[in-house]
Order: sequence, then C-alpha cells, then structure tokens
Amino acid sequence: AFQPRCFSGVQPTGNLHLGNYLGAVSRWVPLQDQMPSIFCVVDLHAITAGFPDAGELKSATREVTAAYIAAGIDPKRSIIFNQSQVKEHAELAWIFNCVARMGWLNRMTQFKDKAGKNSENASVGLFAYPNLMAADILAYRATHVPVGDDQKQHLELTRDIAQKFNNDFAERIKELGIGVPNPTPSPEVPDEFYLPLPEPMIAGPATRIMSLRDGTKKMSKSDPSDLSRINLADDADAISKKVKKAKTDPEPLPGEVEGLKGRPEADNLVGIFAALAGKTKEEVIRDYGGQPFSVFKPALADLAVDKLAPLSGEMRRLMADPAEIDKVLKAGAESASAIAEPVLRDMRKIIGF
Ligand code: ADP
Ligand code: NA
Repeated sequence: AFQPRCFSGVQPTGNLHLGNYLGAVSRWVPLQDQMPSIFCVVDLHAITAGFPDAGELKSATREVTAAYIAAGIDPKRSIIFNQSQVKEHAELAWIFNCVARMGWLNRMTQFKDKAGKNSENASVGLFAYPNLMAADILAYRATHVPVGDDQKQHLELTRDIAQKFNNDFAERIKELGIGVPNPTPSPEVPDEFYLPLPEPMIAGPATRIMSLRDGTKKMSKSDPSDLSRINLADDADAISKKVKKAKTDPEPLPGEVEGLKGRPEADNLVGIFAALAGKTKEEVIRDYGGQPFSVFKPALADLAVDKLAPLSGEMRRLMADPAEIDKVLKAGAESASAIAEPVLRDMRKIIGF
C-alpha cells in the first residue's frame, strides 16, 4: 500500500486570516503525530491572480512560514518549504495540464468566483491552478490532504487526474514494476497504481469560515474589505472591533442548533466560537442559546483575542529574524526535493521521456 503522507499548503498572498488558521493550519498540528507531513507555502499559486512585488512575495512567504511554526508545526519533524524552490511542482503541473481535460476544469467553481465576470482576462495560470495543486500533492505521492471545504472540488479533480494517469499508463507502470497494488480492486481500474488517490480531510465546525460582512462569501485574503476577516496579525483592538461590526440579523441566538439554518451570519459566528473553543456548535448553543448578539459578540471577541494573541506574538518574534526563517525553508526544500525527484524520475520513465 502507499505510505501514509500528508501534504497541504497556504498561499503567501498576505492577510493570513482566521479561515486559514481554523480551516487549515490549526488542523495540521495533530497530524504530525500520525504520519510524515509536508507543509508548503505555495508561492507559485500566489502569482495566478497577478504578480505581487518581489519584496511582498518574499515577506508574505516568511509570514506564512512563521504562522506555521507559531501554530505548532515543528520543522524538525515536518517538512516546511516554499513551492518555487522545488522545481518538480512546475514540471508535474505541466504533465497534468496534459492529463486533465478542459471540461473538468471548466466545472471548477473557485475559478468562476475568482475570475468574476471578466474571465477572458484571467490568467491561464488561474484556470490551470487545480492542476498545479494536484502536482503539489502527487509529487510526494501524498495520501492525506487536510484543507478547508472550499478546496473539496479541487481535491476531487486531483483524484481524477491520478486515476486517469494510472489508467492511461497501466501497462507501462506494470512493465516497469513500480506500481503499488490498487487498494480497492475493481474490474474497471488497473490492479497497480503509481499515484495514490489522496483523501481530503475536511471535518469539524469550521471547515468554511464566512466573511464577517457577508455570510454568503467565504472569508478570504483577497476580499477588499479588511472588516470582512480577522487577520492573524490583528491586535486585540482590531479583533474586537471586527467582531462587533460583524453583520448579523436582529434576532437573538436560537435555543437549538437547527435554528441556525437560514441564518448564515449567526451560524458563522457560532461556528467560529466553536472552533476557537474546541467545542461543537451544540455546546455553544447550550451556553448562549437565547442570548442577544450584544452578549455573544463580546464573548466571541474575548475568546478570539485569547486564542490569537499568543499566535500573533510568536509570529512577530519569528519574523524579527528572517534569516532563521529562510534557513528553515532551505532545509525544507532539500528534504522535499529528496522525495519529489525520484517520483518525477519514475513519471518521466512511465511517460517515455
Ligand atoms: P485564500 O482562499 O484565503 O486565498 P488559500 O487559498 O491560501 O487561502 O487557502 C489555504 C487554506 O486555507 C486551504 O486549505 C483553504 O481551504 C483554507 N481556507 C481558506 N479560506 C478559508 C475559509 N474561509 N474557511 C476555512 N478554510 C479556509
Ligand atoms: Na483558496
């Protein structure tokens, strides 16, 4: 069987926010005890929406790295690196550009959201982004991918790409003797795989944190309104202000969790509370059901400040020494290359280069 391995990443596009933390980074920490783990700062993804200043790209890369370490990712146990330093990502992405079908990518909702109405003007890179994501994961033959719910569709595409590659090259993989027995044999698929079909790990109350200004949009780095998100770098005053200004309806919190249905803003704030407190939404409603937002919001603000202040303090401490962060990234890139190079060597053989 495939060795269990976890891979995930965050883009260095600035404004690292609560959604990135609750939906992704905080969930990675316990995984380090379960399997070898690789956490990437995906800087090649960060140029799909336009080229930031060179200085900005570097400082945002360091900020994300600092957040990983501050959150509890241990660079001695896990690999932390930035994507652009391991050339196999780009090489495999090209191969996958030739595996994935236009029709598959045309169905990606994130492209539609990010490109907006003027999709003719979006970069080809933004369109092909899911193929690069598939390459990120499969260059390490990773089996587990902890991400937020917004990435679910992309992960399904990764599995489709892996499956098509395994199918199209079944004979070559067998001939070369480098396949792994198919874990779930069936007549339609070959009995040996070269690429695993990675499992998404999406669970818990905060898989999709919504904007504080619009309960129908996810909290995102690229939202022009700073009030829409809690940034990991925000100080206590900023956090309190944003929670207080968060959009809500006029009703108090419901007495039962089912009462959150059809109330996206209330549901979002309860979900954030639950994730920060390590509780379920039911438990939060047990404590705050029937309370007005004038009571719930200050409690949420205090909790967020409590949880995030140590994290942002540690991030600031780490960022004061950029050379140390760069050292972590360099060592990580070497460890990552040592895994990805042999995989790409195999894939070149399979394809016939
Ligand atoms: P963004 O979408 O803000 O640009 P990234 O694309 O870098 O962030 O996503 C990094 C990780 O953070 C992914 O695993 C993604 O699923 C998760 N994530 C991003 N936004 C949210 C959100 N609002 N709620 C939960 N998880 C999120
Ligand atoms: Na995203």
